[in-house]
Amino acid sequence: MSVVDDVKSKIDIVDVIGQYATLKKAGRNFKALCPFHNEKTPSFIVFPDQGTWHCFGSCNTGGDVFTFLMKKENLDFGEALRRLAQRAGVELVRETPGEDAERKKLREILAATSAHYHYLLKNHPAAQGARAYIAKRFLTPETAALFELGFALDDWHATENYLVGKGYTARELEAAGLVIAREGGGHYDRFRGRLMFPIRNRNGEVIGFGARTLTGDEPKYLNSPQTPLFDKSATLYGLDLAKDTIRQQNLAVIVEGYMDVIGAHQAGFKNVVASLGTALTEKQLGLLKRLTNRYALALDPDAAGEEATKRGLQVAREALARKTVPVPMGAGLIGFEERLEAELLVIPMPPGKDPDELIHDDPQKWIELTAHPEPLVDFYFRALTQDLNLKNARDKSIAVQRLAPIIREVGDAVQRAHYTQQLARLVQVAEQTVAQAIAQQKRAAQPAKRPVEETPAAAPRPVSKREEYFLTLALRTPEHLPRVAFLDAEDFADAETRAFYLALREFAESSGFFERDAFRVALEPSLRALLDRLSEAETNGLDLTEPDLAREIEIAAYRLRAERDKTELARLEVLLRDRDADRDAEDERNLLERVNVLRKRIAENQKALGARTALKAHAF
Ligand code: UTP
Ligand code: MN
Repeated sequence: MSVVDDVKSKIDIVDVIGQYATLKKAGRNFKALCPFHNEKTPSFIVFPDQGTWHCFGSCNTGGDVFTFLMKKENLDFGEALRRLAQRAGVELVRETPGEDAERKKLREILAATSAHYHYLLKNHPAAQGARAYIAKRFLTPETAALFELGFALDDWHATENYLVGKGYTARELEAAGLVIAREGGGHYDRFRGRLMFPIRNRNGEVIGFGARTLTGDEPKYLNSPQTPLFDKSATLYGLDLAKDTIRQQNLAVIVEGYMDVIGAHQAGFKNVVASLGTALTEKQLGLLKRLTNRYALALDPDAAGEEATKRGLQVAREALARKTVPVPMGAGLIGFEERLEAELLVIPMPPGKDPDELIHDDPQKWIELTAHPEPLVDFYFRALTQDLNLKNARDKSIAVQRLAPIIREVGDAVQRAHYTQQLARLVQVAEQTVAQAIAQQKRAAQPAKRPVEETPAAAPRPVSKREEYFLTLALRTPEHLPRVAFLDAEDFADAETRAFYLALREFAESSGFFERDAFRVALEPSLRALLDRLSEAETNGLDLTEPDLAREIEIAAYRLRAERDKTELARLEVLLRDRDADRDAEDERNLLERVNVLRKRIAENQKALGARTALKAHAF
């Protein structure tokens, strides 16, 4: 969590604003006479659920708690952050200008280590067993070289000594995740006597290691810890080698393990990446999003189905995030699909076979399976009913119970109807009955959900992700900023991204050319953490081969505008629905007028977005 998020989560916006205005409860929200302009009826609303506020009166402006304080006390973002951090009891770490330098150093260390491990694998007598193991797994020397497989000597200090000899400090090696500090002082090597798999980001830079035992030790694979470079949940193994093929074939195949990726690539199937044995995360899918919108998960239907039925779907969602089954199941995935506008498919693996084994034993079968991946929902239908006897009344009811949450999460109404029908046919019960059962379970299963009309905006985090995505693009191609000059501060809901956007625009306009280091120096120190985060996202997440970044930045900008307008409209509608005795006819007219303006603007956004995304689809 960033410091800014931390502060936000610990500060109650109602408390802060309450010091400047008399807040009156209105449903879940609070209203007040606007502290920024003179008015007789309240049009200033605080939305505690989203941590935001908006004045629908003549200010027509809004933001989060930082924005409020900045406006009210005339502060810049850094000053507001300092005040609120103090209030929240969050300690602000001094921005060290050395941070970029540190990451660069870590990359250098990991690259050197990987080359060293690879050298040892090829040449060291002690690596004989590792070489034999590689051969036993049918990997050729070319493949071992392509993936730069390596060997770590079975020694407590070999890696440390080698790297210290090259001039790195033990502290740096520790930060790189290569050595572990001993309690009494000193360090020892993390990886000993293992086959080493360097893990690279999409640009091919080594960011960590996976290390397989050769002796049956536990754990089977030991991975680098989280470091400034390595975030397992935001990494896909093999992406650097797979990205071009994924784009060409418009399909990303996601497997579980290192060996599966390597085996697939060696056999010429180069659109394969691995989720590193964890649950597939949204960040991982986000990496692929720039390349394709078709994702196929290689799943073992037995294991997946068994797991899901044994534990129940709700639990399975979390349980499958752990090791037992390749990738998560449970309705949660369909939610991903909608958010990513993606097609989630399953490649059902023959029982008990890894992709690695299948590809080696029967490559033709792999070709067939990947040519016709199955829609995820169809896969669930099979996996979740295979242990049932659907002639039996009780089992019919179980089938509906298991599949209902999945059908419910299907975003598209026509598809949802299709699957409802399919389920009705499967259990041989009238469709209406099944539809009813699905709807009933919905009510039972979602008691905690708030009424829709009271949560108009998306949760704060995804909003700022969208904003950060725009900024990443803008940083990448600041020369395109004039194309999206229509964006203003209010298009950013988050105070940090808002301040950053304004600073970026001003710097780009005033300096004629854009140089990132110069920008960093000019940037208000409290915003440098965001700059670093964006730079990191760029290295790890943003696909720079995107053919048309100019169009992409326009699309991102219109998405921000669209989101802002949608949020504002939803809030206005809440406001209007609440018949306020204080509101006179003129206020009411003004609000309605604003609704009209927004509706028009939303239609225009949609047109602008539609035109650009259509172009984009055309380009592929
Ligand atoms: P598997 O146990 O299926 O390994 O775990 P594998 O890839 O088939 O390996 P081989 O074929 O036995 O050599 C799948 C993936 O889960 C992660 C690794 O990424 C592994 O490739 N994993 C597994 C771990 O991170 N730690 C472990 O202890 C085990
Ligand atoms: Mn395997």
